[in-house]
Amino acid sequence: MTSMKTETISAAPTPNGQGKKLFIKTYGCQMNVYDSERMAEAMGSDGYTQVDSAEAADMVLINTCHIREKASEKLYSDLGRLRKLKKDKPDLKIGVAGCVAQAEGAEILRRAPQVDVVVGPQAYHRLPAMARAALAGHTQQLDTDFPAEDKFDNLPKARAARGPMAFLTVQEGCDKFCAFCVVPYTRGSEVSRPAARILDEARALVERGVRDITLLGQNVNAYHGAGHGAGHGAGAQGDLTLAGLIRALAKIDGLLRIRYTTSHPNDMGDDLIEAHGEVPQLMPYLHLPVQSGSDKILKAMNRKHTAEQYLRQIERIRAARPDILLSSDFIAGFPGETDSDHAATMDLIRQVRFGAAYSFKYSARPGTPAAEKAEVDNDVADARLQEMQALLSSQQYALQAAMVGREVGVLYEKAGRLDAQLVGKSDHLHAVHVIDPAGKIGELVRVKITASVTNSLKGQRIG
Ligand code: 5AD
Ligand code: SF4
Repeated sequence: MTSMKTETISAAPTPNGQGKKLFIKTYGCQMNVYDSERMAEAMGSDGYTQVDSAEAADMVLINTCHIREKASEKLYSDLGRLRKLKKDKPDLKIGVAGCVAQAEGAEILRRAPQVDVVVGPQAYHRLPAMARAALAGHTQQLDTDFPAEDKFDNLPKARAARGPMAFLTVQEGCDKFCAFCVVPYTRGSEVSRPAARILDEARALVERGVRDITLLGQNVNAYHGAGHGAGHGAGAQGDLTLAGLIRALAKIDGLLRIRYTTSHPNDMGDDLIEAHGEVPQLMPYLHLPVQSGSDKILKAMNRKHTAEQYLRQIERIRAARPDILLSSDFIAGFPGETDSDHAATMDLIRQVRFGAAYSFKYSARPGTPAAEKAEVDNDVADARLQEMQALLSSQQYALQAAMVGREVGVLYEKAGRLDAQLVGKSDHLHAVHVIDPAGKIGELVRVKITASVTNSLKGQRIG
């Protein structure tokens, strides 16, 4: 892992960001969206306010994602545009964050001399200091160190909640080393936050009006944090499982809904499955990526489970919580995938019936074991992806349509486009539109679903 700094940040009085404007462009997963919000907060404490275009900004931060193809191409084309902008606005500061920064930091500085700051996901708490140094004239700073201190605790505690739903990071990194994936390299090994800190942060979010918290982690169901009152040290690992953490969170008054993402099938412990049946706040939605339905491909992916084992897990989860909506990730065209491997994936999809899904064409990520292998023909991979997506969308619409006539909880999130209309998420994470003149944002109401339209449901408030 890269671990170097090309600049030391001077201790002399340096200008802060008072009155300055920050634009963050975010690529990738929820983890990145969350990180961007926390960087915005950290920079906010240093005086920056957020704007929504590079043109209006004094500093532009690109939060990159490395997980699938074209990440660095996108970055360099963004940086090309920013170089032009910097010609007109010489004081513009440019920063690169995220997984591409982590993986290719030195290369970014070499190829893009206009960049002032490159900061990896483990060093975000040092971003304000780096921005100050940039204002003081230090360019080409690189910090992709893994933290000596506890990264989590150097970032603002709870972000300013902008609505009743929020993310809360409980775990970072991944030790699974799926053969296609860069996460274990860019995000490092698994670290769980101690429960006491998570509970404090959750309480603070609830005080700010949050009612629905999604616990985030690259491999969240492998969570093993130090329990309440146990070690508070940096990255302290303990024996509290995700199920234990969820049960502790469920005791917080005013926290009405708990979700978590993203999970590995091998970490669906019995206690977590039981929690799905027993904890009313734990919502009936589970994102459990399987990637492929072929045992040969699962083995080559280093997933360490078979299709049958995945299906058995799904059976157990459905036995605990019959109305759970399942979601998954799939990869089409992994090296060595034949027509019959693809058929096995289609078969698994038919057996499970997914309510939501994300499917991707395989893309070789440099440095991963799969990148050494011969690739499947591009047109073949495209065709398989399309076939898979057609089936997954038809399942998604069918399960959405099956909600018509049912009564669900809806947490109002924002005003809709129509008069007196509110939009919120159902227990199953469907978007639901309700005409409710008396309703308020942040309220959890009972709704009878009356119609299913393309990407959302309509309903009537019944309680
Ligand atoms: N190619 C295609 N898809 C990938 N994913 C991760 N790495 C790759 C890759 N190299 C997908 C997996 C994972 C999701 C977050 O991104 O399906 O679950
Ligand atoms: Fe990547 Fe997820 Fe596999 Fe970890 S479990 S290596 S994050 S795909």
